[in-house]
Amino acid sequence: MRKEIRGYEAVRNAAKDFQTYSSDLLGDRDVRTYRQLPLEADPPRHTNFRSAVQPLFMSDAIAKHKDAFEAHAKSLIQAIDAKGGGEISSEFALPFVIGCLTIIYNRPQDYDEWLSWGPDVWTAEVHRRGAESASSETVHRERNFEMHSDRDGAVLQEYLDRVFDHAEQQVRTDPETQDVWDFISQIKIDDKPINRQEMQGIANVLLAGGRDTVIKLTTGLIWHLIGNPEDREFLAQNREWFNRTIAEMVRYLSPLPKMERVLAEDIHVADAERDTEKYVLLNFVSANYDRDIWPDADKIDLRRDRKPHLAFGLGRHSCMGMNITEHEVSALLTVLLDSWPNWVYATEPDIAWATDEDKDGNPIRFIDRFNKLNVKVAK
Ligand code: HEM
Repeated sequence: MRKEIRGYEAVRNAAKDFQTYSSDLLGDRDVRTYRQLPLEADPPRHTNFRSAVQPLFMSDAIAKHKDAFEAHAKSLIQAIDAKGGGEISSEFALPFVIGCLTIIYNRPQDYDEWLSWGPDVWTAEVHRRGAESASSETVHRERNFEMHSDRDGAVLQEYLDRVFDHAEQQVRTDPETQDVWDFISQIKIDDKPINRQEMQGIANVLLAGGRDTVIKLTTGLIWHLIGNPEDREFLAQNREWFNRTIAEMVRYLSPLPKMERVLAEDIHVADAERDTEKYVLLNFVSANYDRDIWPDADKIDLRRDRKPHLAFGLGRHSCMGMNITEHEVSALLTVLLDSWPNWVYATEPDIAWATDEDKDGNPIRFIDRFNKLNVKVAK
């Protein structure tokens, strides 16, 4: 059993203490051999890579896509309405998130390809073959850092080879026409161009980080709004509450429940020789369900007092995609509340629940994933 750090204060402290709990490790060891960047590095390497990619995540850079996000949400909602209903995670959340990423990264040509990978880039092959249930199971297992035979890095690798070969052969320097891979392939650190593995490491986190996390958040939000008309009414009248709503839903859903850290004494051991059983897990769910901070943590309360949750992490490695998440989900809320599509549950929501422990050993029950959220348009 790996050691887990639990509870609001302990997780906060450990997240800030990179000298004891280092991020200098290789994750997804079954499907890749290079580090995700800036995620899997400590300062100064971490700081260099984080600053280099920062322009992609600035609020202004994302806010300018508001109309495009809204138009995309609208067309997906209309498609569901046109057939009287549909399944939200696969027919709305996945295509919505993929569409927004193609807009932000200026890669509209990749929409169908990214969509074909499904909610998780590591199970793209299985998803393409149509084994949807296998892929959601795999996402669950990945979170628990178990290996699973359905996971494979080949689809992503073939894509990354192709796009970075192209970016290096047809160098585009005009920021108006550049896409995300042009930008990344031209990053320099200390005046030296980064190498191909480093490009892949950045690309990896850009494609994987904002995918199943935002899909879960989007699906969860729609699930909540359908079941709670009074919150829908409240938000329709109080749109300045969107970001607080997103914060409460992200706390409750904690889409990235745990992250690995390696103890400082082991960082000098080569990746292949490390005993990963000695890795420590920062348990973000236990922090977000700490009853000393939120006595009614199991409840979604959009109007609760504001206390910073840890679903986006904290400190140096805190989520760079928070602005992206907020802009995407605000666009969705705007469209949904401007004209509520009269969605009701078509069948009982099929939710997979997970259990964990808080810092005092008490059980925590939280949503692992939405298997199916079938809706229909009420007459
Ligand atoms: C609900 C949505 C999301 C959640 C819950 C989430 C959660 C997190 C968490 C907990 C971390 C910290 C990991 C650690 O401490 O080891 C993190 C880091 C990161 N996230 Fe997110 N994330 C979300 C969306 C996104 C999106 C949309 C993107 C970009 C497309 C993104 C990109 C990143 C990056 C680049 C990092 C690494 C930051 C660093 O190491 O300095 N995330 N995320």
